[in-house]
Amino acid sequence: MSKDVPRFAVIGTGSMAAAMMPTFDLANVRVTAVVSSNLERGRKFADAFGIPTAASDLGPLLSGGDFDAVYIANASAEHANTAIAALEAGKAVLCEKPLGLSATEAERVAEVAQRTGNLCMEGLWIPFLPAYRRFIELARSKEYGAPTQLTASFGYAASEEIRPRTFAPAAGGVLRDRAIYLATLALDVFGPVKSVSSSLDFTAYGVDRHACVQLSHQNGGHSQLSSSFISLLSNNATLACARGWIALEEPLIGGEIVSTRRALITWPLPQEPTYQMTLEQKIRRGLRRRPLLRRIKGAIPKERREYLTYGGDKYLPQLRHFLALLSTNAKESEIIPLERSLSIQRVLDQARSKTDL
Ligand SMILES: NC(=O)c1ccc[n+]([C@@H]2O[C@H](COP(=O)([O-])OP(=O)(O)OC[C@H]3O[C@@H](n4cnc5c(N)ncnc54)[C@H](OP(=O)(O)O)[C@@H]3O)[C@@H](O)[C@H]2O)c1
Repeated sequence: MSKDVPRFAVIGTGSMAAAMMPTFDLANVRVTAVVSSNLERGRKFADAFGIPTAASDLGPLLSGGDFDAVYIANASAEHANTAIAALEAGKAVLCEKPLGLSATEAERVAEVAQRTGNLCMEGLWIPFLPAYRRFIELARSKEYGAPTQLTASFGYAASEEIRPRTFAPAAGGVLRDRAIYLATLALDVFGPVKSVSSSLDFTAYGVDRHACVQLSHQNGGHSQLSSSFISLLSNNATLACARGWIALEEPLIGGEIVSTRRALITWPLPQEPTYQMTLEQKIRRGLRRRPLLRRIKGAIPKERREYLTYGGDKYLPQLRHFLALLSTNAKESEIIPLERSLSIQRVLDQARSKTDL
């Protein structure tokens, strides 16, 4: 980084670019330029956020711009080419998810990042949040026994009339817009994937809008991931383990509550039937016969809940991480390395192609 205050160019003028502007302020980043495919929209964005330069042509800006890094938040179909142009121009890249619309596109970005030696990170942001990190820590610690199955969903209905850009092919469909986070979580929990199967629902233009994806991992774990543009899903994640479960509560994406539940202690069943009831059997029979007792039992909280806040801005932990990498001239993030981005892309490619007929 050439000066003390990091300087960025923002590429794109949509909801996400606007959402990041307060985050840049909080991190003391100076945004010196904004690039839009539509210069008028770029100027409006620049006026709204006090950015000195608006441009519609990325090339000249990259060769002469007064910034160290670019934050790419244009349409997903543009990410790979934008990232490659910025890396070739010697800029560091924080690229919104997805890094590309296919593994091949993402591989091209990774190859240029490696060749040029410039920092490049996909903005998947959720692995930086404390609740997500606690969920992974609990899964890896095996405190609740060996994890066997992850069930996770991310979805709510969007209107194709009101928000057509969400359903446009350029946005990448629900797999690359939403399931990408679930694949990130699944890989963090269980590691590499052995096989992928999926069942998808498409718009009239062939854009995936609802996806049920099943992953079998090399370590024997299973992940069932659902994402949707057309229905409200439960938006949480539960990891089933041998001696209990671990959950990341709603909203899974940007969540702050981790809950856990231990399996009740179970007494071994006798080998032969006994005609004398044990105390446990008597308690169970009592519960089966008395609705009031069942109701009282149902009201007793069984979960342990931990509240782990990200503070005032959910994107700030990721941006701080990226700035730390930038200030130390790091080439990659150890939390979201490029190889991780590529693995996620390969899973999404397979999910897109291996659908039930
Ligand atoms: N990290 C997150 O939580 C998160 C959340 C949402 C989205 N994203 C990612 O961020 C990227 C951008 O998403 P988004 O929600 O910002 O999408 P969006 O609002 O549809 O904007 C995407 C791009 O569309 C172009 N655009 C075309 N017509 C526009 C108009 N009338 N108003 C504003 N922009 C218009 C803009 O680029 P030009 O100005 O260059 O034309 C804009 O940057 C996507 O890749 C998405 O995957 C990330």
